[in-house]
Amino acid sequence: MTTILQIEASARGERSLSRGLSRRFRELWMEYEPAARFLSRDVGRQPPPLVSEAWIAAAFTPPAERSPEQEAILAPSDKLIAEVEAADLIAIATPMYNYGMPAALKAWFDQAIRIGKTFSFDLARGDWPLEPMLGGKTLVVLSARGEFGFEAGGARAAMNHLEPHIATCAHYLGASERHFISIDYQEFGDRRHERSVANAHRAIDELVARLARDDRNPSDAKMQNTTPQQVSLEEGA
Ligand SMILES: Cc1cc2nc3c(=O)[nH]c(=O)nc-3n(C[C@H](O)[C@H](O)[C@H](O)COP(=O)(O)O)c2cc1C
Repeated sequence: MTTILQIEASARGERSLSRGLSRRFRELWMEYEPAARFLSRDVGRQPPPLVSEAWIAAAFTPPAERSPEQEAILAPSDKLIAEVEAADLIAIATPMYNYGMPAALKAWFDQAIRIGKTFSFDLARGDWPLEPMLGGKTLVVLSARGEFGFEAGGARAAMNHLEPHIATCAHYLGASERHFISIDYQEFGDRRHERSVANAHRAIDELVARLARDDRNPSDAKMQNTTPQQVSLEEGA
């Protein structure tokens, strides 16, 4: 049975395109695997708390020495990390805001990535002292953007701080296989946008068919995972 952690980060509700992609992903997965377990975390509607000085002090205090107040400060982080630990697949549905992730999603990453829980730190490793403590997870990013050309080689590729940032952070949550699907042109509302929406939904169909099938045939999945995949299924023009 697959456990899927679904994160939704849009400030919008029904009108949100990224939430639409997320819904489609879930509905399709349920068709392939009705027994799949979904954990839902709506950071768009209920943003996690921001990291504070007291939070940092608590995180860096050894667990056995933490005060009840420090335990309480870390409680939201503990809950979010437990969800990540339980997940085989993390599906993040998010808008692009100001060329990066919404503040609520960044707050989620700041709470979910924690020393001694999701990564270890050891200067004996030289210039790369951080190492993830979790592994084997798949990341799916379903995004919506008002403009276009954010794909590799596109006119706005250098302005895309959304997917690269999420991919870098998700490494410290144990995600090694990564997939990206996006809707573009939302602000233009023209035929390019319509095509982009249709392409993104079709890309989800293909991705879910592949991932859910692999999940039921772990030997196939293992073969695919030997080469980490970064599938960009974005609208061309
Ligand atoms: C505060 C804000 C900032 C935005 N910044 C960008 C941006 O930097 N680049 C872009 O392409 N679109 C930007 N947009 C447009 C959104 O990415 C677009 O409307 C997207 O569809 C929102 O996702 P949603 O439909 O899931 O809510 C911005 C929208 C808002 C509300």
